[in-house]
Amino acid sequence: MLIIANWKAYVVDTKKAKTLVTTAKRLARSTEHTIVLAPPAPFLGLIADGGESVAFAAQDISATTGGAETGESLAQTVVAAGATYVLVGHSERRAHGDTNTIVAEKLSHALAQGLIPVLCIGERERDSDGRYLAFIREQLVSAFSPLSPKERRQVIIAYEPIWAINKTAGSAISITDLAELVLYIQKVLAELLPDRSARELPILYGGSVEASNAPLLAVDSGIAGFLIGHASVDPDSFSAIVRAV
Ligand code: PGA
Repeated sequence: MLIIANWKAYVVDTKKAKTLVTTAKRLARSTEHTIVLAPPAPFLGLIADGGESVAFAAQDISATTGGAETGESLAQTVVAAGATYVLVGHSERRAHGDTNTIVAEKLSHALAQGLIPVLCIGERERDSDGRYLAFIREQLVSAFSPLSPKERRQVIIAYEPIWAINKTAGSAISITDLAELVLYIQKVLAELLPDRSARELPILYGGSVEASNAPLLAVDSGIAGFLIGHASVDPDSFSAIVRAV
């Protein structure tokens, strides 16, 4: 599976960052999983050593193309710092103003620089009328529409319902609901990529993944991996998840 550790802003010192990298490398060597670490941007250049056992992701990139843009980290910059992946449209970035249009721009910049984008989508809440499905469809359509068919095939989807993020395993999605949502995402992707390649796009799940629920969610749901937040910044809980799935 593809397991992405989203450190968010939990990790603030170099020693902790290095401990987590050491743990991830040990796990990558002893399991079949692909492990990707997404540290806060200032740590990227420090810990992404170009080694092959774990890969690195930026948590975000700029929607701009550089120049007089104080505070922005461009796709090129995070590539230079050692990232091969980038999270795009995480709900915590959308909460700070990333609209579907901005997310689409970031996605295009990422692909243009050879980064593998992890497009994060997910509804704020569920309703009995299924409006959340239209919301998810719109997130996918707006992000994919500007892309060429070749670019569309390079995107990884991370389904992260906002109501399930930053909680504990008991609040994560049920396996039935996840399996249904994965089918729905595949259906929308099939419209956006009519040549059957839609089925090959990896779909990850994120939102309160812990060692106790990860194995259940991994089986029969159709997901290709996880995007893990709080449980990825404790070496023991991250190890437990990676070993459990
Ligand atoms: P969480 O975060 O695992 O702490 O819920 C997941 C995410 O937001 O990527």
